[in-house]
Amino acid sequence: MCGIFAYLNYLTPKTRTEVLDLLVGGLKRLEYRGYDSTGVAIDVYQGKDIELVKCVGRVKTLEDTLNEQYKDATNEEPIPTHCGIAHTRWATHGVPCERNSHPQRSDEDNSFVVVHNGIITNYKDVKTYLEKRGYSFESDTDTEIIAKLVHYLYQQHPQYSFREIVEQAVQQLEGAYALCFKSKYYPGECVATRRGSPLLVGIKTKTRLATDHIPILYGKDDKQSSLQDADNNSTTKEHRPHRLGRGDIPVIPRSESTSEFMPLEDKEVEYFFASDASAVIEHTNRVIYLEDDDVAAVKEGTLSIHRLKKCLDDPHAREITTLKVEIQQIMKGNYDYFMQKEIFEQPESVVNTMRGRVNFADKTIILGGIKEYIPEIKRCRRIMLIGCGTSYHSAVATRQLMEELTELPVMVELASDFLDRNTPIFRDDVCFFISQSGETADTLMALRYCKQRGSLIVGITNTVGSSICRESHCGVHINAGPEIGVASTKAYTSQFISLVMFGLVMSEDRKSMAQRRQEIILGLSNLDQQIRKVLQLDEKVKEIAKDLYQHKSLLIMGRGFNFATCLEGALKVKELTYMHSEGIMAGELKHGPLALVDDLMPVMMIVMRDPVYTKCMNALQQVVSRNGRPIIICEEGDQETQSYSSRSLEIPRTVDCLQGILTVIPMQLLSYHIAVLRGCDVDCPRNLAKSVTVE
Ligand code: F6R
Repeated sequence: MCGIFAYLNYLTPKTRTEVLDLLVGGLKRLEYRGYDSTGVAIDVYQGKDIELVKCVGRVKTLEDTLNEQYKDATNEEPIPTHCGIAHTRWATHGVPCERNSHPQRSDEDNSFVVVHNGIITNYKDVKTYLEKRGYSFESDTDTEIIAKLVHYLYQQHPQYSFREIVEQAVQQLEGAYALCFKSKYYPGECVATRRGSPLLVGIKTKTRLATDHIPILYGKDDKQSSLQDADNNSTTKEHRPHRLGRGDIPVIPRSESTSEFMPLEDKEVEYFFASDASAVIEHTNRVIYLEDDDVAAVKEGTLSIHRLKKCLDDPHAREITTLKVEIQQIMKGNYDYFMQKEIFEQPESVVNTMRGRVNFADKTIILGGIKEYIPEIKRCRRIMLIGCGTSYHSAVATRQLMEELTELPVMVELASDFLDRNTPIFRDDVCFFISQSGETADTLMALRYCKQRGSLIVGITNTVGSSICRESHCGVHINAGPEIGVASTKAYTSQFISLVMFGLVMSEDRKSMAQRRQEIILGLSNLDQQIRKVLQLDEKVKEIAKDLYQHKSLLIMGRGFNFATCLEGALKVKELTYMHSEGIMAGELKHGPLALVDDLMPVMMIVMRDPVYTKCMNALQQVVSRNGRPIIICEEGDQETQSYSSRSLEIPRTVDCLQGILTVIPMQLLSYHIAVLRGCDVDCPRNLAKSVTVE
């Protein structure tokens, strides 16, 4: 997690305050990635000295501190070239405090500073190595070793370029990282690299870019490496030829850069490095998604991308992508919170997920991203649906329908547990990886595990260009639009629909399924209107929230197609309100959870008129006869079910397998209102971050 943002202007004069505003603006967009502490590094005088400002807490605190510190600097002369790096932290190593905030530095002179997203797993070895060479450490972070290692290498090889120094250093690192460096020895330069954590470069020029690609420069030993990799038939093989602990760090041969990216004749250009596109979209829509082991360096306004070794299938250039996201999509508009906005966007987001895919007139579905693979998927041994948190719940929600429509075994797996178990995977398995961000480390690791074992990899993501997107053989982009609130809402309903659409594609030539398919497609066509109707319950849900918000716990019960709503509703309540909540399979009630029920325990029950209605009614009666006073979510007009409770929420009826899309929305609204009433930070719940890029 953590968000990194860097800005470099070349021959486009900006004052220091302007640069700071840009950095703070970028961090605000990335705050959902972590909000334990923040920091920036900027030039004091033409890059000859570097100043660090760090704060515990949210970006707003940093903004206020900078405004105070630089309030007299608005009249400063603009600086033609300036590099600033910034960070918002989700603490992994070391408690949130100023000392542990990023940028981390090499020494008291701030000779090298770095911002990092990820975890360095061998940081203790590197630390010991550096301690033996006289370095002492001021933080508890894994990141500090990187700044000091770069400094050490610079001392050994002062003739090296900034990019080469960084390249030498990252060869010694294990784990995951996206890194941005700045140095007083290399003023006006910025170097960034990644392995396992996302990073992109935004490019802003006054006139049109002269190219759509940036050539990749490879190290001198590329020939040898590509032969080795060809022998091993691997394009992702790790290549760290040198290791610490054998005396000094051996030096990798220097490479000569022969070509560069020069976007304009007058070279007036601004560069942005960011963990994701939302941080740069207000400045430019032209970005390059860096790949693992790319080292991007800006020097004298010129961007180069370098890789030490060339693997068999490596391309010769990185594409400059034009982003399709609009700035309005990442603004809150009239809503108080992003989460609230995203809940209310669902009538549109579900339509966007189906747009161009579901033809309601002739009842056909085309999923362009997996079309060619459907014959292969139909021959598979089993389907695995893998994800974490809310994304996992979308798998639980659709499993039953998937089994029905594909007539294949469908397993649902939490990515972390799946990896812990070393689950057997076969070449004829089809593995779906469901992830809003497309960057979740557990899901990505599980993907790589399955890919190595030869199964077909299908990505279901909301983030174009994300790691899961890129590493999948095929997939469905859920098109829910940017989701910024840390708690996932619209991505869940869009994941749900994407998986339903997949099931429909798989069953298109089954005569026996024709009627079922028709009713589902009809259900999909009405969803947006029905979601609008559910959203009208907002005030009623708010009243229920007023009854519940001071309680310690909330049990949410249901079964069949609505069990996933119980799990997802409980997750929303937990993460947003810090209240205990549990999603309970109603069939399991009598096997234990019923003991929790009394006249004080808040209970919600989802009882729809579907094939498990009678069983749900049994559970309802069991709760009522223990003096429980459940709040019921039931179908519109179902007086009989409502007669068991004084409080209920009526939901429009749809086909059984889609009902979960409608029943989850009151749970999203309820968790939102309870969080507001309890004074919780809705968009940034404590201890969490949106994109979990650490295992
Ligand atoms: C809960 C939530 C998380 C994510 C989980 C996976 O509201 O957002 O549980 O669903 O961290 O994230 P993605 O979908 O990005 O892989």
